[in-house]
Amino acid sequence: MDRIRIVGGNELKGIIPISGAKNAALPLMIASLLTSDTLTLENVPHLADVEQLLRILGNHGVDIAVNGRRESQRDAYSRTIHFTCRTIVDTTAPYELVSTMRASFWVIGPLLAREGKARVSLPGGCAIGTRPVDLFIDGLQALGATMEIDGGYINATAPKGGLIGARYTFPKVSVGATHVMMMAATLARGTTVIGNAAREPEVSDLAACLNAMGAKITGAGTSTITIEGVSSLSGARHRVLPDRIETGTYAMAVAMTGGDVVLENTDISLLENAVEAIRRSGATIEPVEGGFRVARHGGVIRPVDVVTEPYPGFPTDLQAQFMGLMTRAQGVSHVTETIFENRFMHVQELARLGAKITLSGQTARIEGVEKLRGAQVMATDLRASVSLVIAGLAAEGETWVSRVYHLDRGFERLEEKLTNCGAIVERVRD
Ligand code: EPZ
Repeated sequence: MDRIRIVGGNELKGIIPISGAKNAALPLMIASLLTSDTLTLENVPHLADVEQLLRILGNHGVDIAVNGRRESQRDAYSRTIHFTCRTIVDTTAPYELVSTMRASFWVIGPLLAREGKARVSLPGGCAIGTRPVDLFIDGLQALGATMEIDGGYINATAPKGGLIGARYTFPKVSVGATHVMMMAATLARGTTVIGNAAREPEVSDLAACLNAMGAKITGAGTSTITIEGVSSLSGARHRVLPDRIETGTYAMAVAMTGGDVVLENTDISLLENAVEAIRRSGATIEPVEGGFRVARHGGVIRPVDVVTEPYPGFPTDLQAQFMGLMTRAQGVSHVTETIFENRFMHVQELARLGAKITLSGQTARIEGVEKLRGAQVMATDLRASVSLVIAGLAAEGETWVSRVYHLDRGFERLEEKLTNCGAIVERVRD
Protein backbone atom coordinates (compact mmCIF):
# COMPACT_ATOMS: atom_id res chain seq x y z
CA MET A 1 0.00 0.00 0.00
CA ASP A 2 1.34 3.45 -0.85
CA ARG A 3 2.53 5.83 1.83
CA ILE A 4 3.49 9.47 1.66
CA ARG A 5 6.71 10.71 3.18
CA ILE A 6 6.98 14.36 4.06
CA VAL A 7 10.01 16.20 5.36
CA GLY A 8 8.66 19.31 7.00
CA GLY A 9 10.08 22.76 7.41
CA ASN A 10 10.13 24.25 3.90
CA GLU A 11 8.11 27.30 2.99
CA LEU A 12 5.89 26.92 -0.07
CA LYS A 13 6.72 29.17 -3.01
CA GLY A 14 5.45 29.02 -6.56
CA ILE A 15 2.27 28.32 -8.49
CA ILE A 16 -0.32 25.64 -7.84
CA PRO A 17 -2.84 24.94 -10.60
CA ILE A 18 -6.23 24.03 -9.17
CA SER A 19 -8.11 21.11 -10.69
CA GLY A 20 -11.76 20.77 -11.59
CA ALA A 21 -13.95 20.13 -8.55
CA LYS A 22 -14.53 16.49 -7.65
CA ASN A 23 -17.84 17.34 -6.04
CA ALA A 24 -19.05 19.13 -9.15
CA ALA A 25 -17.68 16.57 -11.61
CA LEU A 26 -19.49 13.64 -9.96
CA PRO A 27 -23.08 14.98 -10.27
CA LEU A 28 -22.30 16.41 -13.72
CA MET A 29 -21.16 13.00 -14.92
CA ILE A 30 -24.33 11.46 -13.49
CA ALA A 31 -26.41 14.01 -15.43
CA SER A 32 -25.24 12.27 -18.63
CA LEU A 33 -27.79 9.53 -17.82
CA LEU A 34 -30.58 12.04 -18.50
CA THR A 35 -30.01 12.28 -22.26
CA SER A 36 -29.35 10.04 -25.24
CA ASP A 37 -27.09 12.75 -26.70
CA THR A 38 -23.46 13.37 -25.84
CA LEU A 39 -22.59 15.37 -22.74
CA THR A 40 -19.03 16.69 -22.91
CA LEU A 41 -17.35 17.73 -19.69
CA GLU A 42 -14.09 19.67 -19.65
CA ASN A 43 -11.69 20.01 -16.73
CA VAL A 44 -12.61 16.65 -15.20
CA PRO A 45 -10.04 15.78 -12.52
CA HIS A 46 -8.27 12.44 -12.58
CA LEU A 47 -9.26 10.98 -9.23
CA ALA A 48 -10.16 7.58 -7.85
CA ASP A 49 -13.77 8.66 -7.24
CA VAL A 50 -14.13 9.82 -10.85
CA GLU A 51 -12.73 6.50 -12.12
CA GLN A 52 -15.16 4.60 -9.93
CA LEU A 53 -18.09 6.61 -11.26
CA LEU A 54 -16.92 5.98 -14.84
CA ARG A 55 -17.25 2.25 -14.08
CA ILE A 56 -20.70 2.73 -12.59
CA LEU A 57 -21.92 4.80 -15.55
CA GLY A 58 -20.47 2.24 -17.96
CA ASN A 59 -22.57 -0.39 -16.23
CA HIS A 60 -25.71 1.63 -16.97
CA GLY A 61 -24.80 1.87 -20.65
CA VAL A 62 -22.87 5.14 -20.88
CA ASP A 63 -20.26 5.14 -23.62
CA ILE A 64 -17.20 7.02 -22.41
CA ALA A 65 -14.55 8.69 -24.55
CA VAL A 66 -11.66 10.42 -22.82
CA ASN A 67 -9.95 13.35 -24.57
CA GLY A 68 -11.68 12.39 -27.78
CA ARG A 69 -10.46 8.83 -27.96
CA ARG A 70 -12.41 5.95 -26.59
CA GLU A 71 -10.88 4.63 -23.36
CA SER A 72 -7.55 6.20 -24.25
CA GLN A 73 -5.66 8.76 -22.19
CA ARG A 74 -7.58 7.71 -19.14
CA ASP A 75 -4.68 8.78 -16.98
CA ALA A 76 -4.42 12.30 -18.36
CA TYR A 77 -5.15 15.23 -16.08
CA SER A 78 -7.87 17.87 -16.50
CA ARG A 79 -9.51 15.71 -19.08
CA THR A 80 -12.29 16.36 -21.47
CA ILE A 81 -14.65 13.40 -21.30
CA HIS A 82 -17.57 12.66 -23.61
CA PHE A 83 -20.48 10.71 -22.14
CA THR A 84 -23.11 9.18 -24.40
CA CYS A 85 -25.96 7.13 -23.02
CA ARG A 86 -28.02 6.13 -26.08
CA THR A 87 -30.02 3.69 -24.00
CA ILE A 88 -29.91 2.79 -20.36
CA VAL A 89 -29.02 -0.89 -20.42
CA ASP A 90 -29.33 -1.56 -16.69
CA THR A 91 -31.32 0.36 -14.07
CA THR A 92 -29.60 -1.44 -11.18
CA ALA A 93 -26.63 0.12 -9.41
CA PRO A 94 -25.16 -2.88 -7.56
CA TYR A 95 -23.67 -2.97 -4.08
CA GLU A 96 -20.17 -3.84 -5.38
CA LEU A 97 -20.03 -0.58 -7.32
CA VAL A 98 -21.99 1.77 -5.05
CA SER A 99 -20.70 0.76 -1.64
CA THR A 100 -17.37 2.61 -1.86
CA MET A 101 -18.68 6.02 -2.83
CA ARG A 102 -21.79 7.76 -1.59
CA ALA A 103 -22.24 9.97 -4.66
CA SER A 104 -22.82 6.92 -6.85
CA PHE A 105 -26.20 6.57 -5.11
CA TRP A 106 -27.21 9.76 -6.92
CA VAL A 107 -27.78 7.84 -10.17
CA ILE A 108 -31.18 7.08 -8.66
CA GLY A 109 -32.50 10.50 -9.80
CA PRO A 110 -31.71 10.29 -13.54
CA LEU A 111 -32.53 6.56 -13.79
CA LEU A 112 -35.93 7.17 -12.27
CA ALA A 113 -36.59 10.24 -14.41
CA ARG A 114 -35.57 8.66 -17.70
CA GLU A 115 -36.52 4.98 -17.27
CA GLY A 116 -39.22 5.23 -14.62
CA LYS A 117 -37.42 2.82 -12.33
CA ALA A 118 -34.17 2.30 -10.46
CA ARG A 119 -32.74 -0.27 -8.08
CA VAL A 120 -29.82 1.25 -6.24
CA SER A 121 -27.77 -0.16 -3.41
CA LEU A 122 -27.69 1.90 -0.23
CA PRO A 123 -24.49 3.97 -0.33
CA GLY A 124 -21.07 3.88 1.29
CA GLY A 125 -18.39 6.58 1.25
CA CYS A 126 -16.16 8.25 3.84
CA ALA A 127 -16.92 7.07 7.38
CA ILE A 128 -17.72 10.52 8.72
CA GLY A 129 -21.19 9.92 10.11
CA THR A 130 -24.31 7.86 9.62
CA ARG A 131 -25.19 9.64 6.37
CA PRO A 132 -28.77 8.40 5.91
CA VAL A 133 -30.86 8.66 2.70
CA ASP A 134 -34.21 9.72 4.16
CA LEU A 135 -34.15 13.09 2.38
CA PHE A 136 -33.70 11.42 -1.01
CA ILE A 137 -36.60 9.08 -0.28
CA ASP A 138 -38.92 11.86 0.87
CA GLY A 139 -37.95 14.16 -2.01
CA LEU A 140 -38.48 11.55 -4.73
CA GLN A 141 -41.72 10.40 -3.09
CA ALA A 142 -42.93 14.00 -3.33
CA LEU A 143 -42.42 13.68 -7.12
CA GLY A 144 -44.74 10.67 -7.08
CA ALA A 145 -42.17 7.86 -6.89
CA THR A 146 -42.77 4.71 -4.88
CA MET A 147 -39.72 3.97 -2.77
CA GLU A 148 -39.13 0.61 -1.10
CA ILE A 149 -36.13 -0.71 0.76
CA ASP A 150 -35.38 -4.33 0.01
CA GLY A 151 -32.27 -6.31 0.92
CA GLY A 152 -29.96 -3.30 1.15
CA TYR A 153 -31.35 -1.78 -2.03
CA ILE A 154 -33.83 0.99 -2.74
CA ASN A 155 -36.36 0.13 -5.40
CA ALA A 156 -37.77 3.31 -6.86
CA THR A 157 -40.64 3.39 -9.32
CA ALA A 158 -42.16 6.41 -11.03
CA PRO A 159 -45.90 6.63 -11.60
CA LYS A 160 -47.25 5.72 -15.07
CA GLY A 161 -46.41 8.61 -17.37
CA GLY A 162 -43.39 9.63 -15.28
CA LEU A 163 -42.54 11.76 -12.26
CA ILE A 164 -44.84 14.64 -11.41
CA GLY A 165 -43.60 18.11 -10.46
CA ALA A 166 -44.27 19.08 -6.84
CA ARG A 167 -43.41 21.53 -4.10
CA TYR A 168 -41.07 20.03 -1.52
CA THR A 169 -39.07 21.64 1.26
CA PHE A 170 -36.15 19.70 2.70
CA PRO A 171 -36.21 19.60 6.51
CA LYS A 172 -32.40 19.78 6.43
CA VAL A 173 -29.96 21.09 3.82
CA SER A 174 -28.43 18.28 1.76
CA VAL A 175 -26.15 18.76 -1.21
CA GLY A 176 -26.73 15.27 -2.62
CA ALA A 177 -30.50 15.28 -2.16
CA THR A 178 -30.68 18.69 -3.86
CA HIS A 179 -28.65 17.38 -6.84
CA VAL A 180 -30.88 14.31 -7.15
CA MET A 181 -34.17 16.13 -6.78
CA MET A 182 -33.07 18.75 -9.32
CA MET A 183 -32.00 16.12 -11.86
CA ALA A 184 -35.16 14.05 -11.38
CA ALA A 185 -37.42 17.10 -11.72
CA THR A 186 -35.92 18.18 -15.06
CA LEU A 187 -37.92 15.44 -16.82
CA ALA A 188 -41.00 15.51 -14.55
CA ARG A 189 -44.40 16.69 -15.76
CA GLY A 190 -45.08 20.19 -14.46
CA THR A 191 -43.16 22.45 -12.11
CA THR A 192 -41.12 21.48 -9.06
CA VAL A 193 -40.16 23.93 -6.34
CA ILE A 194 -37.43 22.78 -3.97
CA GLY A 195 -37.34 24.65 -0.66
CA ASN A 196 -34.34 24.75 1.71
CA ALA A 197 -32.14 23.66 -1.20
CA ALA A 198 -28.38 23.46 -0.83
CA ARG A 199 -26.70 26.62 -2.14
CA GLU A 200 -23.26 25.13 -2.79
CA PRO A 201 -21.51 26.30 -5.99
CA GLU A 202 -21.57 22.68 -7.17
CA VAL A 203 -25.39 22.82 -7.18
CA SER A 204 -25.27 25.97 -9.33
CA ASP A 205 -22.75 24.29 -11.63
CA LEU A 206 -25.03 21.30 -12.11
CA ALA A 207 -28.02 23.59 -12.79
CA ALA A 208 -25.99 25.52 -15.39
CA CYS A 209 -25.08 22.30 -17.16
CA LEU A 210 -28.66 20.97 -17.03
CA ASN A 211 -29.91 24.27 -18.45
CA ALA A 212 -27.36 23.98 -21.27
CA MET A 213 -28.91 20.56 -21.91
CA GLY A 214 -32.34 22.17 -22.24
CA ALA A 215 -33.64 22.06 -18.67
CA LYS A 216 -35.55 25.00 -17.23
CA ILE A 217 -34.07 25.65 -13.81
CA THR A 218 -34.06 28.96 -11.96
CA GLY A 219 -32.92 29.91 -8.48
CA ALA A 220 -29.91 27.55 -8.17
CA GLY A 221 -27.51 29.11 -5.67
CA THR A 222 -30.43 30.30 -3.54
CA SER A 223 -32.46 28.20 -1.14
CA THR A 224 -35.44 27.97 -3.52
CA ILE A 225 -34.94 26.22 -6.84
CA THR A 226 -37.70 26.05 -9.44
CA ILE A 227 -37.62 23.44 -12.18
CA GLU A 228 -40.10 23.45 -15.02
CA GLY A 229 -40.14 19.92 -16.41
CA VAL A 230 -39.30 19.31 -20.09
CA SER A 231 -39.95 16.18 -22.15
CA SER A 232 -36.32 15.49 -23.03
CA LEU A 233 -32.82 16.86 -22.63
CA SER A 234 -30.12 17.15 -25.26
CA GLY A 235 -26.34 17.06 -25.18
CA ALA A 236 -24.14 19.97 -24.12
CA ARG A 237 -20.57 20.99 -23.43
CA HIS A 238 -19.74 22.19 -19.94
CA ARG A 239 -16.58 23.04 -18.00
CA VAL A 240 -16.36 21.73 -14.43
CA LEU A 241 -15.89 24.57 -11.97
CA PRO A 242 -12.63 24.86 -9.94
CA ASP A 243 -12.27 22.79 -6.79
CA ARG A 244 -12.88 25.19 -3.91
CA ILE A 245 -11.87 22.57 -1.34
CA GLU A 246 -8.55 21.89 -3.05
CA THR A 247 -8.08 25.66 -3.31
CA GLY A 248 -8.74 26.19 0.39
CA THR A 249 -6.52 23.26 1.31
CA TYR A 250 -3.47 24.70 -0.46
CA ALA A 251 -4.21 28.18 0.88
CA MET A 252 -4.17 26.72 4.39
CA ALA A 253 -0.96 24.84 3.62
CA VAL A 254 0.73 28.14 2.75
CA ALA A 255 -0.74 29.83 5.82
CA MET A 256 0.76 26.95 7.81
CA THR A 257 4.27 26.76 6.34
CA GLY A 258 4.70 30.40 5.35
CA GLY A 259 5.73 31.36 1.85
CA ASP A 260 4.07 32.84 -1.19
CA VAL A 261 1.96 30.89 -3.68
CA VAL A 262 -0.35 31.77 -6.54
CA LEU A 263 -3.34 29.43 -6.79
CA GLU A 264 -4.36 29.51 -10.42
CA ASN A 265 -7.44 28.39 -12.38
CA THR A 266 -9.60 29.09 -9.36
CA ASP A 267 -11.95 31.71 -8.02
CA ILE A 268 -11.72 33.39 -4.63
CA SER A 269 -15.48 34.01 -4.57
CA LEU A 270 -16.12 30.26 -4.24
CA LEU A 271 -14.74 30.20 -0.72
CA GLU A 272 -15.17 33.61 0.85
CA ASN A 273 -15.87 32.32 4.33
CA ALA A 274 -12.73 30.17 4.40
CA VAL A 275 -10.63 32.95 2.86
CA GLU A 276 -11.78 35.24 5.65
CA ALA A 277 -10.75 32.68 8.29
CA ILE A 278 -7.32 32.22 6.65
CA ARG A 279 -6.82 36.00 6.54
CA ARG A 280 -7.74 36.32 10.19
CA SER A 281 -5.13 33.66 10.97
CA GLY A 282 -2.47 36.04 9.64
CA ALA A 283 -1.96 35.17 5.97
CA THR A 284 -2.54 37.69 3.22
CA ILE A 285 -4.77 36.81 0.32
CA GLU A 286 -5.18 38.94 -2.75
CA PRO A 287 -6.96 38.21 -6.01
CA VAL A 288 -4.83 37.94 -9.14
CA GLU A 289 -5.89 37.23 -12.71
CA GLY A 290 -7.39 33.73 -12.84
CA GLY A 291 -6.94 32.98 -9.16
CA PHE A 292 -5.40 34.42 -6.02
CA ARG A 293 -2.18 34.76 -4.17
CA VAL A 294 -1.71 33.61 -0.61
CA ALA A 295 1.30 34.51 1.48
CA ARG A 296 2.59 34.58 5.00
CA HIS A 297 5.97 36.11 5.60
CA GLY A 298 6.91 35.39 9.18
CA GLY A 299 4.56 36.56 11.89
CA VAL A 300 2.50 34.27 14.05
CA ILE A 301 -0.50 32.18 13.16
CA ARG A 302 -3.40 33.72 15.06
CA PRO A 303 -6.12 31.55 16.63
CA VAL A 304 -9.47 31.72 14.83
CA ASP A 305 -12.72 29.97 15.77
CA VAL A 306 -14.80 28.42 13.00
CA VAL A 307 -18.14 26.61 12.84
CA THR A 308 -18.93 24.46 9.81
CA GLU A 309 -22.19 25.23 8.05
CA PRO A 310 -23.86 24.65 4.71
CA TYR A 311 -22.68 27.05 2.00
CA PRO A 312 -21.98 29.98 2.23
CA GLY A 313 -20.76 29.06 5.73
CA PHE A 314 -17.37 27.55 6.53
CA PRO A 315 -17.21 24.22 4.64
CA THR A 316 -17.06 20.96 6.55
CA ASP A 317 -14.68 19.72 3.84
CA LEU A 318 -12.08 22.25 5.05
CA GLN A 319 -12.58 21.64 8.75
CA ALA A 320 -9.77 19.11 9.21
CA GLN A 321 -7.30 21.23 7.25
CA PHE A 322 -8.16 24.34 9.25
CA MET A 323 -7.69 22.39 12.45
CA GLY A 324 -4.27 21.38 11.15
CA LEU A 325 -3.45 25.06 10.69
CA MET A 326 -4.72 25.95 14.15
CA THR A 327 -2.44 23.38 15.82
CA ARG A 328 0.38 25.91 15.35
CA ALA A 329 -1.58 29.04 16.27
CA GLN A 330 -0.41 31.23 19.10
CA GLY A 331 -3.31 30.68 21.48
CA VAL A 332 -6.51 28.68 21.76
CA SER A 333 -9.03 28.18 18.96
CA HIS A 334 -12.25 26.22 18.60
CA VAL A 335 -13.53 24.28 15.62
CA THR A 336 -17.17 23.19 15.72
CA GLU A 337 -18.52 20.61 13.27
CA THR A 338 -22.26 20.86 12.64
CA ILE A 339 -22.68 18.86 9.41
CA PHE A 340 -21.31 15.38 10.21
CA GLU A 341 -21.29 13.81 13.66
CA ASN A 342 -18.11 11.79 13.22
CA ARG A 343 -15.71 14.06 11.44
CA PHE A 344 -12.97 14.36 14.04
CA MET A 345 -10.95 11.26 13.27
CA HIS A 346 -7.95 13.40 12.37
CA VAL A 347 -7.74 14.62 15.98
CA GLN A 348 -5.92 11.59 17.33
CA GLU A 349 -3.60 11.52 14.33
CA LEU A 350 -2.76 15.22 14.68
CA ALA A 351 -2.01 14.46 18.33
CA ARG A 352 0.72 12.04 17.18
CA LEU A 353 2.43 15.03 15.61
CA GLY A 354 2.27 16.87 18.94
CA ALA A 355 -0.99 18.79 18.57
CA LYS A 356 -2.97 19.55 21.72
CA ILE A 357 -6.64 19.05 20.96
CA THR A 358 -9.50 18.18 23.28
CA LEU A 359 -12.96 17.26 22.12
CA SER A 360 -16.18 18.19 23.78
CA GLY A 361 -19.20 17.04 21.81
CA GLN A 362 -19.00 18.59 18.36
CA THR A 363 -16.36 21.16 19.33
CA ALA A 364 -12.61 20.74 19.28
CA ARG A 365 -10.48 23.00 21.48
CA ILE A 366 -7.06 23.45 19.95
CA GLU A 367 -4.23 24.81 22.02
CA GLY A 368 -1.59 25.92 19.59
CA VAL A 369 1.90 24.48 20.06
CA GLU A 370 5.18 26.01 19.03
CA LYS A 371 6.35 22.95 17.14
CA LEU A 372 4.89 19.83 15.60
CA ARG A 373 7.17 16.84 15.26
CA GLY A 374 7.07 14.34 12.40
CA ALA A 375 5.55 10.92 13.15
CA GLN A 376 3.78 7.99 11.53
CA VAL A 377 0.11 8.80 11.01
CA MET A 378 -2.83 7.17 9.32
CA ALA A 379 -5.26 8.73 6.88
CA THR A 380 -8.84 8.02 7.95
CA ASP A 381 -10.88 9.87 5.35
CA LEU A 382 -10.26 12.13 2.41
CA ARG A 383 -10.09 15.55 4.06
CA ALA A 384 -8.63 14.21 7.31
CA SER A 385 -5.74 12.74 5.38
CA VAL A 386 -4.82 16.00 3.71
CA SER A 387 -4.87 17.77 7.08
CA LEU A 388 -2.11 15.39 8.13
CA VAL A 389 -0.14 16.30 5.03
CA ILE A 390 -0.49 20.00 5.85
CA ALA A 391 0.60 19.40 9.42
CA GLY A 392 3.51 17.28 8.18
CA LEU A 393 4.70 20.13 5.95
CA ALA A 394 5.12 22.29 9.02
CA ALA A 395 6.40 19.59 11.37
CA GLU A 396 10.03 19.08 12.24
CA GLY A 397 11.47 15.94 10.65
CA GLU A 398 9.75 13.14 8.77
CA THR A 399 6.05 12.39 8.69
CA TRP A 400 4.76 9.20 7.12
CA VAL A 401 1.10 9.14 6.10
CA SER A 402 -0.32 5.69 5.44
CA ARG A 403 -3.59 4.67 3.74
CA VAL A 404 -3.13 7.35 1.12
CA TYR A 405 -5.81 5.83 -1.09
CA HIS A 406 -8.10 8.23 0.78
CA LEU A 407 -6.10 11.16 -0.65
CA ASP A 408 -6.30 9.74 -4.16
CA ARG A 409 -10.07 10.01 -4.02
CA GLY A 410 -9.96 13.79 -4.01
CA PHE A 411 -6.53 15.37 -4.60
CA GLU A 412 -5.08 15.29 -8.09
CA ARG A 413 -1.26 15.22 -8.32
CA LEU A 414 -0.89 16.28 -4.69
CA GLU A 415 2.80 15.38 -4.34
CA GLU A 416 3.68 17.04 -7.65
CA LYS A 417 1.82 20.25 -6.85
CA LEU A 418 3.50 20.56 -3.45
CA THR A 419 6.95 19.50 -4.65
CA ASN A 420 6.84 22.16 -7.37
CA CYS A 421 6.50 24.71 -4.58
CA GLY A 422 9.54 23.49 -2.68
CA ALA A 423 7.99 20.95 -0.32
CA ILE A 424 9.61 17.57 0.24
CA VAL A 425 6.77 15.13 -0.36
CA GLU A 426 7.09 11.76 -2.01
CA ARG A 427 4.97 8.69 -2.54
CA VAL A 428 6.61 5.48 -1.44
CA ARG A 429 5.28 2.22 -2.82
CA ASP A 430 5.86 -0.55 -0.27
C1 EPZ B 1 -21.60 16.36 -0.12
O1 EPZ B 1 -21.95 15.14 0.50
C2 EPZ B 1 -20.14 16.26 -0.45
N1 EPZ B 1 -19.93 15.13 -1.35
C3 EPZ B 1 -19.33 16.07 0.82
O2 EPZ B 1 -17.97 16.06 0.49
C4 EPZ B 1 -19.60 17.26 1.75
O3 EPZ B 1 -18.93 17.05 2.96
C5 EPZ B 1 -21.10 17.39 2.00
O4 EPZ B 1 -21.81 17.48 0.75
C6 EPZ B 1 -21.46 18.61 2.82
O5 EPZ B 1 -20.98 19.76 2.20
C7 EPZ B 1 -20.07 15.30 -2.66
O6 EPZ B 1 -20.45 16.35 -3.15
C8 EPZ B 1 -19.75 14.14 -3.53
P1 EPZ B 1 -25.16 16.17 2.51
P2 EPZ B 1 -23.46 14.75 0.75
O7 EPZ B 1 -26.26 15.32 2.01
O8 EPZ B 1 -24.27 15.29 -0.35
C9 EPZ B 1 -27.48 14.58 6.33
C10 EPZ B 1 -15.76 15.23 0.52
O9 EPZ B 1 -14.90 15.15 1.42
N2 EPZ B 1 -28.40 13.84 5.46
O10 EPZ B 1 -25.18 17.62 2.20
O11 EPZ B 1 -23.46 13.31 1.01
C11 EPZ B 1 -26.07 14.04 6.33
O12 EPZ B 1 -25.95 12.91 7.16
C12 EPZ B 1 -17.21 14.86 0.77
O13 EPZ B 1 -15.53 15.59 -0.64
C13 EPZ B 1 -29.51 13.26 6.01
O14 EPZ B 1 -29.74 13.35 7.24
O15 EPZ B 1 -23.76 15.56 2.07
C14 EPZ B 1 -25.30 15.24 6.82
O16 EPZ B 1 -25.39 15.32 8.21
C15 EPZ B 1 -17.43 14.14 2.04
N3 EPZ B 1 -30.36 12.55 5.22
C16 EPZ B 1 -26.05 16.41 6.20
O17 EPZ B 1 -27.34 15.89 5.84
C17 EPZ B 1 -30.14 12.42 3.87
O18 EPZ B 1 -30.97 11.76 3.22
C18 EPZ B 1 -25.43 17.01 4.97
O19 EPZ B 1 -25.07 15.97 4.07
C19 EPZ B 1 -29.02 13.04 3.31
C20 EPZ B 1 -28.16 13.75 4.13
